[in-house]
Amino acid sequence: MSTVIAVTSGKGGTGKTSLTGAVASCLAALGRQVLCVDMDVGLRNLDLTLGMSDRALMDFTDVLSGRATLERAAVAHPQIQGLYLLTAPLTQPRDAITAEAVRAFLNEARARFDYILLDAPAGLGLGFQISTCGADRALVVSTTDASALRDAQRTVCELGSSMRSIHLVVNRVQPKLLRQLHTTIDDAMDTAGLPLLGVVPEDPQVMLAANRGQPLIMMARFGAARAYLNIARRLMGERVPLMHIR
Ligand SMILES: Nc1ncnc2c1ncn2[C@@H]1O[C@H](COP(=O)(O)OP(=O)(O)OP(=O)(O)O)[C@@H](O)[C@H]1O
Ligand SMILES: [Mg+2]
Repeated sequence: MSTVIAVTSGKGGTGKTSLTGAVASCLAALGRQVLCVDMDVGLRNLDLTLGMSDRALMDFTDVLSGRATLERAAVAHPQIQGLYLLTAPLTQPRDAITAEAVRAFLNEARARFDYILLDAPAGLGLGFQISTCGADRALVVSTTDASALRDAQRTVCELGSSMRSIHLVVNRVQPKLLRQLHTTIDDAMDTAGLPLLGVVPEDPQVMLAANRGQPLIMMARFGAARAYLNIARRLMGERVPLMHIR
């Protein structure tokens, strides 16, 4: 059975795109057929993160409007078998993007892919709505910042009771900083009001990988790379203990 996962946050810059690219790469490396869709109209960068900006010529609105088939628009990653990208348009499309069209597109994608990851834009506007309207589950990515956690809480309220499963991923964790702030991951879960799917450490490899356009799992095995792999395995239903971040 196919699963559609919306990767959201509320606040910008918390690590949604990094997580989408890395977790999608891990799921594909674990043998699944994975489509990641950049839903950030006008500000896409999942293609850069995956090193595929010169390959992704058609975007998800081309598929929604029938200008291109999913088969043609979704491009295969050159190195990771089973990983496909459907990018976002660089400008606002002429025709409005409707929830109905997004749901129809996702239903078609479900027939071909085991996992479909939707990289939502920041905020709770139209981009958020179309990224979440057809999803089975949502991941809310937050840092340990009070403002990011409050936005995560707002995101949960906005997702409402329609979403079957909503989990928190706490990103850029620095234990020393948490100690200085007298706070914990448990506090983060309490503030966001969500169960935890994973914790990702602050790790310069994330930015290095994105800038080189190389999937993180091809560059590193520890730190954030390990955390993303653990998240992918949990999404597949495995029980993986939380990693200890030093
Ligand atoms: N665990 C991490 N450690 C270090 N840097 C990170 C980590 N996660 C993300 N970053 C960096 O933070 C920045 C923002 O990440 P990213 O683009 O993934 O966030 P986003 O939530 O998608 O942003 P936006 O809301 O603008 O779409 C990038 O420079 C990325 O390399
Ligand atoms: Mg992003």
